[in-house]
Amino acid sequence: MAIFTSSTRDIPTTAAVPRHVAIIMDGNGRWAKKRCLPRFAGHRQGVETVRDTIKYCLEAGIEYLTLFAFSSENWRRPEEEVSLLMQLFMRALQQEVSKLERNGVRLKVVGDLSPFDRDLQSLILASEQQTAVNDKLTLTIAANYGGRWDILQAVNRMVLAHPEKKGVWSESDLAPYLAMNYAPEPDLFIRTGGEERVSNFLLWQLAYAEFYFTDTLWPEFDSTAFAAAISSYQQRERRFGRTSEQLIRGPLSVVNADHSPENAGLVRPANLKINA
Ligand code: IPE
Ligand code: IPE
Ligand code: MG
Repeated sequence: MAIFTSSTRDIPTTAAVPRHVAIIMDGNGRWAKKRCLPRFAGHRQGVETVRDTIKYCLEAGIEYLTLFAFSSENWRRPEEEVSLLMQLFMRALQQEVSKLERNGVRLKVVGDLSPFDRDLQSLILASEQQTAVNDKLTLTIAANYGGRWDILQAVNRMVLAHPEKKGVWSESDLAPYLAMNYAPEPDLFIRTGGEERVSNFLLWQLAYAEFYFTDTLWPEFDSTAFAAAISSYQQRERRFGRTSEQLIRGPLSVVNADHSPENAGLVRPANLKINA
């Protein structure tokens, strides 16, 4: 029998709160333009939405929230906007990190941080350290992040770490070197602002995420809008390559799920217990 080597390990779930939500926060500029304000006003308002989104996740029991704050392509924007975005990021870290710490939030920043100012790099490191023991919610900010950059840096680090290795590499060999090796793959991907594209976000990790696009601009993405995204997610049937008939319906709890690579994500009927 052929060995199945996919590294996607999630157990199919429906009607549950997603464990990991990843968001492309788009539409700040258009929000500002609608109000005849400078684009930066939209970014500033967007930080308020980030605050509310974190609160929502804490209340809903979402364990991982990943936010795309600055892509590897966003350097192409006017210099002034890039510089203001960096200042905003720095100020938000300075003002919010103690609050994150108090609320049980662990902060992680992923992306190529080397082009950032020394001060910003140090602040990021200190903020991560300050919140490192928290485990209620892991908040990941993707800054100067690109999905292609992530895959490539992982490949390079993997190969360098195993100079003796001959033969082929597997998905599981690569996984520990990806920037978000500490998190499960996203269950739900949200993009605000009306565009329906991935814009080089988590290319590897989104393989089996449920996608949700909304026209709502990021500064207007409130708890009602977030709840609508969760509700859409809850109506999806996640099949991970299987047929609908293979999935057992109803409220389920999974015991002894088989996580071996060849059976990744496969829930055998014997491992399912129906909660009456
Ligand atoms: C997203 O909002 C924020 C960043 C990319 C930093 P935009 O700035 O892309 O807003 P629009 O798409 O121009 O409205
Ligand atoms: C994606 O938004 C990046 C972030 C939200 C940080 P963009 O607004 O930069 O994406 P494109 O250029 O429209 O694809
Ligand atoms: Mg945009």
